[in-house]
Amino acid sequence: MRKQIATAALLGAAILAFQAPVQAQDLSKTRYLAANCANCHGTNGQSVGEIASLAGYDKGRFISTMAEFRSGKRPATIMHQLSKGYSDQQIADLAAYFAAQPKK
Ligand code: HEC
Repeated sequence: MRKQIATAALLGAAILAFQAPVQAQDLSKTRYLAANCANCHGTNGQSVGEIASLAGYDKGRFISTMAEFRSGKRPATIMHQLSKGYSDQQIADLAAYFAAQPKK
């Protein structure tokens, strides 16, 4: 019985220890996704040119802006095309990623 409890506790600790690296991995995946935006919006969304910075962009506003590009409600030269290439989940991940980047 004692051995079983110890095993269960170890298993619990192992599961807890395993969760952190999984989350870190997801963030790095989003980093690669965000790299698709870097040519125009700057590395990590910190623009150095005319195009808007995405660093520190409000999450909710990001998601609604991308939806407006997709639907054609918001006028665009290129973003209406690009926004169609990403799933809702990818846009949500990008929203979280850019919101967490420091503005420059
Ligand atoms: C080839 C250049 C280019 C790339 C790559 C690009 N964008 Fe854009 N982005 C633009 C331009 C130009 C605008 C202004 C609207 C337009 O003309 O399409 C814009 C506007 C935006 C805006 C609105 C900014 C504001 O004014 O509030 C968001 C949000 C955005 N882009 C997100 C993204 C995301 C996310 C990616 C990557 C998945 C991305 N963009 C990739 C060129 C680009």
